[in-house]
Formats: sequence, C-alpha cells, structure tokens
Amino acid sequence: MKAIVYREYGSADVLKLEEVPQPTPADNEVLIKIRAAAVNPLDWHLMRGVPWPLRFFSGLRKPKRTSLGADMAGDVVTVGAAVANLKPGDGVFGAVDGAFAEYVCAPASIVALKPLNVTYEQAAAVPIGGLTALQALRDKGNLQAGQNVLINGASGGVGTFAVQISKWMGAKVTGVCSTRNVDLVRGIGAGRVIDYTREDFTASGERYDVIFDLVGNRPLADFRRVLNPKGVFIACGGGGPETPAGDALAGMIKQLVQGWFTKQRLVGILAKRDKGDLEILSQLMTSGDVIPVIDRYYGLSELPEAIRYLEAGHARGKVVIATPKFS
Ligand SMILES: NC(=O)c1ccc[n+]([C@@H]2O[C@H](COP(=O)([O-])OP(=O)(O)OC[C@H]3O[C@@H](n4cnc5c(N)ncnc54)[C@H](OP(=O)(O)O)[C@@H]3O)[C@@H](O)[C@H]2O)c1
Repeated sequence: MKAIVYREYGSADVLKLEEVPQPTPADNEVLIKIRAAAVNPLDWHLMRGVPWPLRFFSGLRKPKRTSLGADMAGDVVTVGAAVANLKPGDGVFGAVDGAFAEYVCAPASIVALKPLNVTYEQAAAVPIGGLTALQALRDKGNLQAGQNVLINGASGGVGTFAVQISKWMGAKVTGVCSTRNVDLVRGIGAGRVIDYTREDFTASGERYDVIFDLVGNRPLADFRRVLNPKGVFIACGGGGPETPAGDALAGMIKQLVQGWFTKQRLVGILAKRDKGDLEILSQLMTSGDVIPVIDRYYGLSELPEAIRYLEAGHARGKVVIATPKFS
C-alpha cells in the first residue's frame, strides 16, 4: 500500500510517499481502508520534532515511528479475534497512528461508527478538533448554558468545533477571527464576532465565564483582565513551527504560578482519544448541531503542500486529504 513515511525530523520536505507493507490487525484491532484523512498541527509538531521536549516521546534524534497522521475516516476491512463491536464494511472515524496511508490498523476502542449523514471527508475532519473542543469546554471549562464564552482562534480547526459545541451547550458565544472569517464564524453559531484586525477583544469591557485560547498570541494578563473573577481560562497550544520551545514552557510555568494566587481557574488541555466522546460528536453530526467546516482538499501525494498550508496558521476549519485524490 501507499503511505507517507518520514525518517528524519524537518520541514515538509522530509515526507515521502512510499510503497510499504499493508499492516495486519492484532486481536484488539481493526484494519481500516482509509477514505479520507485530515491534517492537524500535531502532524507538523511530530514531523519537525518541536517543541523539543516532545522528542522524549517521539524519538530523540529521529522519529521512532515513521508513519504520520491521526484523523481519518474509512471502512473496516477485517477485525481482530477479540473485536466484538465492529465488523467488515462498517464506516468508522477516529484519531489513529498513521492516517496518511491507504490502510491503517487501530484498536477498536478508539474508533467510532461514522454517522450515515456525513461524508468520509467530513467525518475525517472531526476527531482531534472535535475531541479537543468538546473535552476543553465540557471537562476543563465546565461550560454551562447561559454563560459567556470567548473562543480566540474561532475560525481554525479546533475553533470551528468549539463555536458549534459551545452553542449546542447553550452558551453565549463570542468568536475572535480576522475579517475574511467573520461571516463564517457568525454562520456557525457565534452571537458576537470580534475581528482581531480591527478590534482588541480585551478592550471591549465584556467579561467571560470561559475563555478558550487556540492562538497563544497574548500575554496571560490580557485574558485574565476580561475573565470573570471565578472564570476559567483554557490554554490550548498556539505558536508556529519557529516558536522557541522556551516560550511555551515559560507560558505554562507563568500560568501555573498565577493559578495559585487567584480564584480564576487557569488550565490547559491535552485531548484524549475517547470513543464515548467520538460517539457524542457522531450524534452531534447526525443532529446537525455540528457540521465540520472544510477549508480545502489535497491528495495523499500532496501532503507536504497541505502541511505547509496548515503551518502558515490561517486555515479556515479543516484541511482534508481526500479520497478521489488519495493515492
Ligand atoms: N492540547 C491539545 O490537545 C491540542 C489539540 C488540538 C490542537 N491543539 C493546538 O491548538 C492550536 C489550534 O489548533 P487548530 O487545529 O485550530 O489550528 P489551525 O487550524 O492551524 O488554526 C488556524 C486559525 O487560527 C486563526 N488565527 C491566527 N492568528 C489569530 C489571531 N491573532 N487571533 C485569532 N485567530 C487567529 C486563523 O484565523 P485567521 O486566518 O483569520 O488569522 C486560523 O483560522 C494549535 O496550536 C494546536 O497545536 C492542541
């Protein structure tokens, strides 16, 4: 089968489309024929081995795992002996290890049935962005109906899910994005949209119960000024390929220390691959409360281009690696 392989850290030039052996599922796994995949900042972090502490897990001098890609949707081809809840022919989606390939093996415990009313491309766009948004707002933010939530980076891969999920949770949603994305962010459910090229969201006088930051471009003090005294600030990454690792680390330490001296809750999120949460996202797609926003499509052989586009930091929703051009 064809798959993207990388054997050294670096720019998107290290990604090669190669012929590799098709994997065989273990007892707890399913073999999936991938119909569509999607790109996440996680992919370029792993590709470049940045920030450097990541290398303690991904391999110090070179990547331990040569495959790349997490988000995918496809069809189950065969199932391992211990898999009871899936069968050949089932359409599934989830975040796996090695989605930029024609086939992948994944534990049955981390994939969910694809809703029938969405395409493989739409389903592939959901796992990491949807799980991150759901777990951040529900588990970290404890977001309640009627509360005021601010999403900084509302037009991106996570932000477009965060806006829709906040609205579904009954919150009053404010999204921050640039001029060209104002209509998009309003269209997916933000009652108020702040165009960061024209207005500073910290200067409006509005206060928020929950702030979900997907950009990491402002000092913590700016967010805290517009956060209610018992509000929750959720940090979620930010920065580009050139951002020094020290900046992220310093930000985390500052947040931790400031958190000791305030009633505001200053937290971070590390999304988990949770099948139950994928099933919630599946129901939200079925009900139409969540409709994945897809920016553009690339073929599997065009993955380096897709990653370069995402690294530039201005994707509108998700970048999808799609079936017709998949191989
Ligand atoms: N911790 C976790 O578990 C986890 C999980 C997923 C993602 N993340 C992290 O979360 C971050 C966001 O991920 P993503 O997938 O949403 O990334 P993304 O799709 O690359 O985000 C791009 C979006 O950011 C917006 N943006 C750029 N500068 C902005 C600014 N100054 N103010 C407001 N919006 C701005 C862009 O809008 P414009 O074009 O309008 O500027 C674009 O729509 C990344 O750092 C990622 O690594 C963490």
